[in-house]
Amino acid sequence: MTGRQVHLNVFLFGCGHHGAAWRRPDSSVERLGDIAYYEQLARTAERGLLDAVFFADGHSVRDVETGSWWFLEPMTALAAMARATEHVGLVTTVSSTFHTPFHAARMLASLDHISGGRVGWNLVTSMFDDEARNHGMAAMPAHAERYARAAEFAEVALALWDSWDEDALVLDRGGAYANPARVRRIDHEGAHFRVDGPLTVPRSPQGRPVLFQAGASEPGRDLAAQYAEGIYAVAYDKDAGRAYRADVRRRAGALGRDPDALTVMPGLVTYVGSTEAEARRRKAELDALLPTSQSLAQLSMFTGQDCSGWELDAPVPPLPPAREVAVPQGRYETVLRIVEREKPTVRSLLGTLAAGGGHATMIGTPESIADEMIAWVDSGAADGFNLMPPSLPDDLEVFVEHVVPELQRRGRFRRDYDDETLRERLSQPT
Ligand SMILES: Cc1cc2nc3c(=O)[nH]c(=O)nc-3n(C[C@H](O)[C@H](O)[C@H](O)COP(=O)(O)O)c2cc1C
Repeated sequence: MTGRQVHLNVFLFGCGHHGAAWRRPDSSVERLGDIAYYEQLARTAERGLLDAVFFADGHSVRDVETGSWWFLEPMTALAAMARATEHVGLVTTVSSTFHTPFHAARMLASLDHISGGRVGWNLVTSMFDDEARNHGMAAMPAHAERYARAAEFAEVALALWDSWDEDALVLDRGGAYANPARVRRIDHEGAHFRVDGPLTVPRSPQGRPVLFQAGASEPGRDLAAQYAEGIYAVAYDKDAGRAYRADVRRRAGALGRDPDALTVMPGLVTYVGSTEAEARRRKAELDALLPTSQSLAQLSMFTGQDCSGWELDAPVPPLPPAREVAVPQGRYETVLRIVEREKPTVRSLLGTLAAGGGHATMIGTPESIADEMIAWVDSGAADGFNLMPPSLPDDLEVFVEHVVPELQRRGRFRRDYDDETLRERLSQPT
């Protein structure tokens, strides 16, 4: 018997998710402004038959010295990547705090037309005050206020996408261009937005883009449960994945949605080698490139300890229990879990934190990684994964060449794309 199919997205991020990946001698760092680089990544994802590629987005420049990965604006980049590919889904992040719903709905609908129905929207509320200060605000609105705006934003966007019926375009050269009875205003007036509609873009192939969400808080999970079709989750291990997935499925069910309509994909960092030792070497090579004093300073912040004198190639010294340290608890608990499970050296811990941090990390052969991924899916911890290659393009290529065939051999991953929209692909019975 074959089990449920694994869904795979890939989170494209600069030279890769490992903070030191760009420092490799042969890294892609000179190509970050070159659209051909992203087209190549999208083609690689398509060669691996992945569901979609995904771009995060931020609206401020953070640490330029250690690497700032915002370069091309995602939607313009995805328009080009749509033309370089035929099948792979194209998911972009759009912040409900900084855009207006009309602007967002218009661009996303355009992209859905351009790509022939392959677009997804990761709805985020954004996080940082320095982003807000690029948009006329002194600071981020409070968390609850951001989520209230996000919910109204989603409602308005959905209404705008529905403002053109499927059969609205008549295109009768002797008569009407469109049927006025099939195009309508939305006349929205709410706490945050006033929008007449209709949208300037006629109905797109998918009707509306596939909605993705990545919220972790209570309101974030509620928003995901209400609107999301795909969820980018954070789960360090199967237990965390199971708890999160069960929770959002329960919330969706309580809202009258079919929980199976949610595809939950935790982030996954993979180091693949022909032996486990080789995979570990790949990680160690990247970890060795981390600027150590900066990384140790960051670790001091995460742990509330003075780590500046820690011996890099010695095991991590014993750490106090979470309740005894005055630091953000989530991140600290992740550090404790990594130390407990991997018993890493200080350098290896820095590397794990520098690539995905609290996301799942699998190090091994294609066979062992495929088995581990399937174990997650079979235990209810995931419906698939949001791949976070430590180094790009290499680690995506290795995954596509070596892990995808293992998943296929186990009957757990498609062998071809059907001619489908992204929504159809994501909601295929598994
Ligand atoms: C894989 C992943 C990608 C994310 N991408 C973005 C992003 O591009 N921009 C952003 O502002 N937040 C992004 N987030 C943050 C989430 O949207 C969310 O704000 C965060 O998980 C905190 O949860 P909360 O908003 O419910 O408090 C991402 C989160 C995850 C797990």
